Amino acid sequence: MGLWSEHVVPRLTDLALGTADVRAVRARAVERARGEVVELGFGSGPTLPLYPAAVTSVRAVEPSAVARRLGARRIAAASIPVQHVGLDGADLDLPDATADTVVSTFTLCTIPDVERALREVRRILRPGGVFLFLEHGLSPTRRPPAGSTASTASSSAWSPAAT
Ligand SMILES: C[S@@+](CC[C@H](N)C(=O)[O-])C[C@H]1O[C@@H](n2cnc3c(N)ncnc32)[C@H](O)[C@@H]1O
Repeated sequence: MGLWSEHVVPRLTDLALGTADVRAVRARAVERARGEVVELGFGSGPTLPLYPAAVTSVRAVEPSAVARRLGARRIAAASIPVQHVGLDGADLDLPDATADTVVSTFTLCTIPDVERALREVRRILRPGGVFLFLEHGLSPTRRPPAGSTASTASSSAWSPAAT
């Protein structure tokens, strides 16, 4: 990884995705999170303080050492235990059916093999578990409901039990 991606991008991301507006959308995206969470692309941990009380633990997947370092203060301040468990959302070293909730905020767009990552999400979710994700862009094939904003339309939940 180059200097730009390893040192600058994680700091820029921490700032750019740490605004009050983004925080509000982020909080809405994870309001249904519960139980044992696996978070893909944990970054510097900006979602951690926003998890509801129903969340009992977070297993973080994050490849960037700088992001993990930036996240250390949030982890230290959190009441929820956080453990780093891997570097790649497309190749999780976790058993099947091990999470009640999988969370990804602004991360699916950065995972090179996103289809494999989604297969991993399905594999590690327990029956009835949910995948909560938040992305920057709108789907080219699914238009937002009339009257909604891009940010509300891009915050979504997916449950393998319902598919
Ligand atoms: C745009 S940042 C979002 C960070 C954080 N989730 C947030 O909401 O601010 C994308 C994150 O995904 C991480 N990432 C990149 N490739 C990944 C992969 N293959 N698996 C998991 N995370 C990855 C990056 O290191 C980065 O922290």
